[in-house]
Amino acid sequence: MAIAIFAMEASTAETVTLKSAAGQTQRDFGVAFEPTFLANPLYRELATSQFSSITPENAMKWDQIEPTQGSFDWKAADEVAAFAKSNDQKLRGHALVWEDHFPDWFAGKRFAAATLKNLIEQHVGAVVSRYKGVVYAWDVVNEPFDDAGRWRAGLLHNTLGDGYVAIALRAARAADPDAKLYINEYGIEKSGPKFDALYRLVAALKASGVPIDGVGLQSHFIVGRVPPDLPAILAKFAALDIDVALTELDFRLSLPATPESLAQQATDYHFVVASCLAVARCVGVTTWGISDDHSWIPTYFPGYGDALLFDQRGDPKPAYAAVIGALQRLGLPAIEKRQ
Ligand code: G3I
Repeated sequence: MAIAIFAMEASTAETVTLKSAAGQTQRDFGVAFEPTFLANPLYRELATSQFSSITPENAMKWDQIEPTQGSFDWKAADEVAAFAKSNDQKLRGHALVWEDHFPDWFAGKRFAAATLKNLIEQHVGAVVSRYKGVVYAWDVVNEPFDDAGRWRAGLLHNTLGDGYVAIALRAARAADPDAKLYINEYGIEKSGPKFDALYRLVAALKASGVPIDGVGLQSHFIVGRVPPDLPAILAKFAALDIDVALTELDFRLSLPATPESLAQQATDYHFVVASCLAVARCVGVTTWGISDDHSWIPTYFPGYGDALLFDQRGDPKPAYAAVIGALQRLGLPAIEKRQ
């Protein structure tokens, strides 16, 4: 059986990182970051050396940061901000308002529209103000639509209608006029009702002067199923005069991984990163985790995993070399086949 491996010149492998290669294209290469994993020296080393941007995987979510109404637990979020500062990394804030994700003190409650509007403004104002000048871009609204492109049913839309998005965006802009404000969504990386819904929403927000600066395409993919029209999708959003970013990139594969599935994963990662480079306003790529031993995938998709650029031991996978190659605008790295 041919074992496909990706060879890189030793000299380049030692000097090139995701951060340096992306920097050559004036882009960021980021990672979702959990401060609790910093006790692992390899995690710390990779987080420091490979990435120019970090996103708190959970530390800035409403349930984590305001566990009781009006009482904030800043510890984990401050730790993430301190790590980014100490490593001269950009910090993406994630996620201020998410229909699927509220603290327990919301459970079972119904609010008058004015009350919920005020709760959103208070929460967004408090969190964005604390990280004013520290967080350079916020996922202000996360996942507003369902897979059919309908507004996700829940407290926000049931109480405030479409308007909850503008309320959150305006509150964020008021708290930090310089932060870039994003709507972050999955399933919009290809043509279809969900893309159409978010495209229409962003166009309407722009037309009505609601502050919005970017769309985050989460990019949670399955090996062998890349969205072929990703470059065109990125260009369509950018044509609305906004930035785009791949904000949660991972490529899950059916376990156990094989040399063939890892080679396909490398090809797929190469295509997606090259798609970002093909669109000037694609400002960066963030993977949703560093190494396969710390990923959301196995919990949420049993039987799938190994979705990231570094393996369970923290060693670079073929996909790592492929991403470096894409960032250097090269084809797939040389594949050395051994019988
Ligand atoms: O912090 C608690 C801990 O105290 C408790 O003991 C433990 C067991 O209940 O749960 C811990 O919280 C978990 C949290 O991750 C931190 O580990 C939550 O239960 C768990 O639901 C949460 O999962 C996260 C998920 O979002 C839901 O917030 C995943 O780690 C995270 O990777 C995932 O990320 C999302 C993005 O935010 C939005 N896009 C999709 C992406 C994947 O679902």
